[in-house]
Amino acid sequence: MSEHDYSNKHVEYVAPEATPEEQAELDDMYKRMDEIHLKPLWRTIGSLMPNSPESQAVAHKWDWEELYKLAQRSGELVPVGRGGERRAIGLCNPGLGGNPYISPTLWAAIQYLAPGENAPEHRHSQNAFRFVIEGEGVWTVVNGDAVPMKRGDFLLTPGWNFHGHHNIATEPMAWLDGLDIPFAHQMDTGFFEYGTEKLTDESTPDYSRSERLWANPGLRPVAFPGRTTQSTIGRYAWEHTDKALNEQLALEDAGFPGVVGPGHAAVRYTNPTTGGDVMSTIRAEFHRMRPGASTTPVHEVGNRVFQVFEGSATAYVGDETFELNHGDVVNVPSWKKWHIEAGADGVDLFNFSDFPIFEKLDLARTYTPEGV
Ligand SMILES: [Fe+2]
Repeated sequence: MSEHDYSNKHVEYVAPEATPEEQAELDDMYKRMDEIHLKPLWRTIGSLMPNSPESQAVAHKWDWEELYKLAQRSGELVPVGRGGERRAIGLCNPGLGGNPYISPTLWAAIQYLAPGENAPEHRHSQNAFRFVIEGEGVWTVVNGDAVPMKRGDFLLTPGWNFHGHHNIATEPMAWLDGLDIPFAHQMDTGFFEYGTEKLTDESTPDYSRSERLWANPGLRPVAFPGRTTQSTIGRYAWEHTDKALNEQLALEDAGFPGVVGPGHAAVRYTNPTTGGDVMSTIRAEFHRMRPGASTTPVHEVGNRVFQVFEGSATAYVGDETFELNHGDVVNVPSWKKWHIEAGADGVDLFNFSDFPIFEKLDLARTYTPEGV
């Protein structure tokens, strides 16, 4: 990729000099094209087929304190229940026309559940995950399996699984929801169905059945052979994520490989039946960077979203710089050059992206201008 000149732009079409009579005929022709819904390529190619992706989406940061305050307020003013279904507030990319799309493909929202509140069951073809930034005491029930939600946990609700939530805690709880809603919306692939209003399982086990079967390192149940498109694990508990990251950094200290870059540990949540991504449209990762560690600037096809779990960082996206603290969310539009530098205390970063879509379609590309 490095030999391609990405500054190379289309040569703009310049119409030959026309006489007034010719111009009148051209105007007539373009007017008629417009009337019957036609558009000539020579007038649109620059924006339609740019030399490299030029996303309408922009890089933007959402401040967690602001998000949380408004979620709290909506908890006071708006009941959760059938119809609206969830007290989830979508992050709207300022470049995407006011739609609740953080990218052309991805939805990100803060979801808020007050003590004792239940969110009724439903299912949809859109893939969903939750990442818990703070709190505990909520169980998400996925196809009748009660899955605990605790700080740092990553939870899956892959497409077409019934799911609802209930909160038995004395404190409200907030988490980040990620889905492929915009992708389904724009591609017209979405289906939705109501389930029971009362949750099918109101038990509060320490571990879900899916974890008891599937979340034992390197071990799979012989009773369930074969590959599944969606991960079989409902909850990736924080204790495992935290340990995996600590071990990478400890191995780095001892002079062994494991980290992705100096002072930068990273894990990807995977489907234990394939070793691949957890869902067909969404990739999720967790990154831990020591104080001052930095990622390599890169352009990538696809969209990323980061949320700071702990610590602080500076994100550089295109020409913009974002200071990030606990809970803050920032997105990287397709092909915008980005890198992240950890703050003075290091940073723990949750990340998700739509990369599996483009990898499957053979459209994935990356370019590191400074080399790898
Ligand atoms: Fe849902």
